[in-house]
Amino acid sequence: MSAMPDRIRQAAQRAQADLADETTPLLRNAWYVAALAPEVSRQPLARRLVDIPVVLYRREDGRAVALEDRCAHRSFPLSRGQVVGDNLVCGYHGACYGADGRCTRVPSQAQVPPGAVVRSFPLIETGALLWIWPGDPALADPALLPAQPWMSDAGWASSTERLHLRASHVRLHENLLDLTHLSFLHANSFGTPDYASAPFETVLDEAAGRFSLHRTVSPTRLPPLWAVPTGLGGVDAARVVSSSFLSPALHVVAVKFYACALPEDAQPARAIRTAHLVTPESATRTHYFIQHARNFALDDAEITRFMHQQLLQAFQEDVDGLEAIETLLAGYPARQPEISFHADKASLAMRRWLKRQAEAEALSRAG
Ligand code: FES
Ligand SMILES: [Fe+2]
Repeated sequence: MSAMPDRIRQAAQRAQADLADETTPLLRNAWYVAALAPEVSRQPLARRLVDIPVVLYRREDGRAVALEDRCAHRSFPLSRGQVVGDNLVCGYHGACYGADGRCTRVPSQAQVPPGAVVRSFPLIETGALLWIWPGDPALADPALLPAQPWMSDAGWASSTERLHLRASHVRLHENLLDLTHLSFLHANSFGTPDYASAPFETVLDEAAGRFSLHRTVSPTRLPPLWAVPTGLGGVDAARVVSSSFLSPALHVVAVKFYACALPEDAQPARAIRTAHLVTPESATRTHYFIQHARNFALDDAEITRFMHQQLLQAFQEDVDGLEAIETLLAGYPARQPEISFHADKASLAMRRWLKRQAEAEALSRAG
């Protein structure tokens, strides 16, 4: 017999059917981070992005190129070839491709056969990131780039990282909109016991596809990750957090800190921002890029190192947790539907939006 009453189970199943999950088609008409800029060089870099094998390299003048990583001749991965000048030469029979994906030379014959072309993807390099548009190139409007000015602003000291997640990108987005988990999953890193029950406000902008959660934890004691760099250790402090899904590729967490003993506007600015850059590799694998920044102690390399190392420990806890969920569900097809909490309001709205977008795009591709 089911532990869940039938009426509840059926209602939960109906609600869950509207939510994006690992079975939802991947959204391709969006800018996603393909790589951290220093990863792309004159050596071809293979990376599966939104279920497309892609090869990235740089031309002689430094401009980056993204091509489909499959030779038009016999599907040899072009990433196993060589960059010569601005071209990529296949390592199997030597077909030569330009940065636009057209084959310009076949060594064994005088003519290039018609149709010898691979996809070339729109790319934008800004700050520390290379963004790719894996969908319809006619829709690749640079104005849709979700990158924010602070991400390449000298007023913010940044560090970057690339993680890999053996779980769906939807789970990562949901994790980022649900910060009640800080008190538990991150109990040994940057969570505090009072975090989960602190009051919060949800802001849903369905038309723009933006979903945010604002939470103030005050008074609280800051964990070392924030107490050390802000100098607010051992005192009552406020931790003011906004967590925002801004696009299928970008989620920004912005945090301000101040000591409760002084009015907020009488204190030095101490803010941090983290761009969580989410690029599906496949339905159940995700590239997880991070750009973390602060607007104080800009020249202090030791603070950069300390915060980077502490944050990575915390984000690895997310990776481990989400992978545990994905692994469990992969081997458990006859499971019960999930039951949601009030704190899931923003993530449920985001998942409904993501599912509608993905299904509309899949439909337009099919048509
Ligand atoms: S597979 Fe690339 S040239 Fe033959
Ligand atoms: Fe987390």
